[in-house]
Amino acid sequence: MSSNIEDIPAGKGQAVGIDDLSVYVPRLFLPLAGEFSTNRGIDPGKLIKGIGIERMAVPDRHEDAATMAAMSLLDLMKHSRLRPEEIGKIYVGTESALDEAKAMGTYVIGMLEKIYGKGSFQECSTVEFKAACIGTTFALESLSYWLAGEEEDKVGIVIASDVAKYPLASPGEYTQGAGSVALLLKKNPRLLALEQIYGTFTRDENDFFRPMGCSTAVVNGKHSNQCYLDAMQGAFDSFSAKALKKGAITPGAGECTTDFIDHLLFHIPYPRMVEYASAAIFRHDWRQSRRWKEIEEELGPEPKAQEYEDHGKYQAAEADYARRFAKSEQFLQAYAAKVRDTATLSRQIGNIYTGSIYLGLASLLESQKIHAKERLSFGAYGSGCSALFFSAIAKQQASSVPRRGLVEKLEERRQISLQDYEKLHEGKAEKSVLMPCKEFALARIDHQGYRHYEYVE
Ligand code: CAA
Repeated sequence: MSSNIEDIPAGKGQAVGIDDLSVYVPRLFLPLAGEFSTNRGIDPGKLIKGIGIERMAVPDRHEDAATMAAMSLLDLMKHSRLRPEEIGKIYVGTESALDEAKAMGTYVIGMLEKIYGKGSFQECSTVEFKAACIGTTFALESLSYWLAGEEEDKVGIVIASDVAKYPLASPGEYTQGAGSVALLLKKNPRLLALEQIYGTFTRDENDFFRPMGCSTAVVNGKHSNQCYLDAMQGAFDSFSAKALKKGAITPGAGECTTDFIDHLLFHIPYPRMVEYASAAIFRHDWRQSRRWKEIEEELGPEPKAQEYEDHGKYQAAEADYARRFAKSEQFLQAYAAKVRDTATLSRQIGNIYTGSIYLGLASLLESQKIHAKERLSFGAYGSGCSALFFSAIAKQQASSVPRRGLVEKLEERRQISLQDYEKLHEGKAEKSVLMPCKEFALARIDHQGYRHYEYVE
């Protein structure tokens, strides 16, 4: 079911939203099946099917979250023919901070000024947003409100940039990745108009965090999956209530919120998580719809906590029902139609933390799956934990936004050995695997800890 909304006003003015986006992924990758799976003693089927990742992107020695952010922004500026003086704000979402005080965006501006000239960004402000994998989405929400009231016709940029890193041989290792996504936000966007309906959920959790001074995350894996699902459901309920109140979604008898969404995008720590998340959201939402009767006919009634004296037995029955729901015909159809294609790029890249959900958007664009007037929902998740569920409507010109050939570009990357990967991971590589070429590179870190970057022709 498509949206009946064509143009969304931003307050008194025009719609604001995403006009274009650029993705940067390091040129090195490690396949998970082969040397890696053999060395770690893991069945490759678990990594490819059970987790859903085939290749993890690996940053070279001269790369970090700031160089990747500068690369995605440079690509965006070139493609959109954007001049520095047109940009009012650059918000950077990252959990790979390079400094406890200095905003990553200032390093990014320093790099871009090597191309556009010294001082060219001096009227542009930049802030770093940290909220684990949801930082970029909170940045986008914030920037969209600024843009709606902006009177000088400036545009805003939101950049996600991260290196997802866990200890070697830990269960998080095979979900690693690295990359950056830069989003161009403006009034009257070509791609997506934000509906400005944001449903939020927050609670204090220890599912995943990185204490000061640690280069890898501490993660309570299974608990993090559960926190993600709880938070997503909370944010979805908050979104649904607001969308109903605003009249953006008007379900008739037997209809529910997801009937009004054409593509559901979720944070993608690994592609299977998107399957778990969408199964949880559809199951939760469909209970209100006429479809639920058919589900119960196929699967029987859901287990109810009050029917079990032993909580462990209830949890086991609940997990079994969830597994059977995820295999039901109804779910598999909805998943294939509205969710599956969002994970295409992530399978070849791995987790890029705060930009992963926007890799999902890039996946849809690359496969030309977005059509005018369709409603997209975004379910972002950040450990710690928060979720934000929001929506946007595809504009008439959406299908005219050119593809970037990302899938083809990923095929041009260099495969590295397990040994090279481990050296890079542990910071023991003496030189870059691929010498920098037409890219920003970290040249050195001086005695005070300041980072020096250059553009290498
Ligand atoms: N062939 C096919 N499938 C197989 C298999 C095989 N040989 N062996 C196992 N599998 C399947 C399992 O059955 C399971 O699928 P089901 O859920 O359908 O049963 C799937 O592979 C995963 O296997 P496990 O449950 O054994 O997974 P694991 O112990 O390896 O842990 C993980 C997975 C918890 C995600 C771990 O990789 C981890 O800790 N990752 C980092 C944290 C993370 O990504 N958390 C996600 C939520 S938090 C978040 O989203 C923020 C963020 O970005 C970090």
